[in-house]
Formats: sequence, structure tokens, C-alpha cells
Amino acid sequence: MDKIPFNKPYLTGNEKNNLESILNFKHFACNGQFAQKCEQFFEQKYNFNKAILTTSCTSALEICAILLNISQNDEIIIPSYTYVSTANAFEKQGAKIVFADSKKDSPNIDENEIEKLITNKTKAIVVVHYAGIAVDMHKILKIAKTYNLFVIEDAAHSINSYFKEKALGSFGNLATFSFHETKNIQCGEGGMLVINDKTLENRAEIVSMNGTNKSAFIKGNVAKYEWVDIGSTFLPNEITAAFLLAQLEQIDIIQQKRIEIWDNYYNNLQILANNNKIILPKINENETNNAHIFYFFCKNKDERNELIKHLKINNIQSSFHYSSLHKSIYVKNKYANIISLPNAEHIEDTLIRLPLFFELTNSEINYITEKIIDFFDYK
Ligand SMILES: Cc1ncc(COP(=O)(O)O)c(C=O)c1O
Repeated sequence: MDKIPFNKPYLTGNEKNNLESILNFKHFACNGQFAQKCEQFFEQKYNFNKAILTTSCTSALEICAILLNISQNDEIIIPSYTYVSTANAFEKQGAKIVFADSKKDSPNIDENEIEKLITNKTKAIVVVHYAGIAVDMHKILKIAKTYNLFVIEDAAHSINSYFKEKALGSFGNLATFSFHETKNIQCGEGGMLVINDKTLENRAEIVSMNGTNKSAFIKGNVAKYEWVDIGSTFLPNEITAAFLLAQLEQIDIIQQKRIEIWDNYYNNLQILANNNKIILPKINENETNNAHIFYFFCKNKDERNELIKHLKINNIQSSFHYSSLHKSIYVKNKYANIISLPNAEHIEDTLIRLPLFFELTNSEINYITEKIIDFFDYK
């Protein structure tokens, strides 16, 4: 079997046509017709109040921190088991990051652990829907309402996924998505900010355009644009947006294929789960699966690392995921009291991710799962 990579970015074939029309049309900077079409697509399909394409999910998170006026007096609750950008955006603005544990059986933040972390300095809760599988947003919104907190959904993994039939990214005051080449829908590097809280909408446009009221100028609402707030160049160019639009046109086909792959993995590995060799991911009744990541848990770190090695010897590239942020070098250097978050630490040690990309064939999936079953010596 030829080497099976962890990821192979999918091309729909239409990217080339869209890029050619950009070359003919000669509008390369941000805010062109392709960006507008992408934003309208997201707003309509997922019922988002307002979507703004950004250069990455990281930059969308940075806009969130600016919009909430995060300062040194604020505390932000985030899951420790996440990518560094979730924390960095708020850390940069001087906030104190308060890390929350994951659930015992899921990488997602434990909704029941949040309330005890809230102080009179807490300003926002950031949740991450790991692998596109929803955090219980009704519980989160209830806590936020009780303590008057903002909610941000880091929905980097979560395009086309739902909680109680409502799209992820439509619950929080703000939400952020990633279109990095490892994501279901990709444009190399790209992202999106969703603004559900209408009171933040106007300022989001300003901050994302270098702190100027250029957006109002383009709409003809002001005679000239000028510096009115802080901000940066957060918007992507039209080349990126044109590429992304080609992907969006095939989102249903892409999703269907990824779910088929995910289901095949799940069914093939059920035998190991039934015999307590591994723990497969759990998707509860109110949650959907967008097949962004196929992961499962091994018993311990040694076993997980041995399995990754075993797959590598067999030409299969697998991966583990986040290093819990509360144990990072940065946090160790900054905060004297190192906390223990047992679920996040256990998940960091035991989670393994398998290759998942559009072109992965059934015979490759069968080969991968056979090698995993061999590893556990289970027939
Ligand atoms: C949970 C989470 N948030 C944010 C990001 C950053 O996304 P981007 O690479 O688009 O900045 C990632 C990256 O994968 C992520 O996993």
C-alpha cells in the first residue's frame, strides 16, 4: 500500500475557473464580489446574523478580543484542550486566561465545571466544538445569562454541524471558523467571524478594516473614511475568497463523502470498542457529526504512541492532537500555580486521529482499520 497521508486538501475543480475570473476581473484586494458571495452563502445556509471572511480563524478570534474590549482586568474561561490561538487572542489583550477541564468522555469543555471558575472579573466563556461535535450550547447560554457574560464559539472545526438543529456558530455573541487546508472546506489559510450579537456588528466592520469606517464609506453612508478605532488588516484578498467559493458550491458533496468515511471507520472499529480495547467518539442525540476529525481513545499514552508507530511502519500517517494549554511552557512561565486538569491531560495522552480526506478510498480505510485491529491483536 502506498503511503496514506494524514490529510490531502480536496479541490472541487472549480477553484481554477474562479481564479481565472479574478485574473480577468482584476479586483484582487479584500471585499470583492467573491467575498460577498461567500458571506451571503454562510449567512443564508446557517442562519448567521452576519458573517465576515477573515484571513484565518486566529484573526477572527483576535477581532473578538478587540470587540469585547478585553483588558488586564478581565478573565476569560477557555478549555485547556484547544489550539493555542483560542487563548492567544485574549492573552494578547492582557486578559487572564482561566483554563477549564474537558469532560471525561469528550474533548469538549465540561459545561458543569464552568460556574465554579467564574469570578467578578470573568468577561467571557469561549467554547470549542471539538471535531465539530457540539458543546451543550443551551447550558452555556444559561450560565452566560446568569452571570452576564459574553459567549464566543471557537467553531474552527464546526462548519455544517448543529446542536438541536441550530447551526454551530449561531449561538454565541460571536463565533469563529477556520478554512485552513486541514478543514472540511478550505482555501489554504482562511477564516470567518460570525456576529450574532447585533450590537457588535458595526464595530466588527470597523475593526476588521484597520479601525476605519471604510465599510460605511463603501456603502455611501459617509463622504470619506478615516481612523475611528483600533483594528488591523483582518480581511482576506479576493483570490482566497474565489477559491473558497468553489469549495462552498460543493459543500454538500464534500460533507456526504466525509461522513461516509467517518462511518466506515466507526463500523470497522466497533469490534475493538465492543471488546474494551478502544473508546470510540460519542455523538449524543442533540448533536450532529460533520466528520471533521475521526478520533478514538486508547487506554494510555504508551499504547497510543505505540499505535502511531505501528501505523507509521505500515505507511499510515496518524496524529495526536492538542497539548493541553495549562501545561504549556508559556503558562508554566507566566502563572506560578500550575493547575491539574485530569480529563484534558488524559485526553491529550490517549487520543489518536486517523487520516480523513475526501479522496480516502474504502480499501485504504479497510487497510488502516485492519492494521489497527492487528495492533490490538484482536480477530
Ligand atoms: C480550535 C481551533 N481554534 C483555532 C484554530 C486556528 O485556526 P486558523 O489556522 O484558521 O487560524 C485552530 C486550528 O486548527 C483550532 O483547531
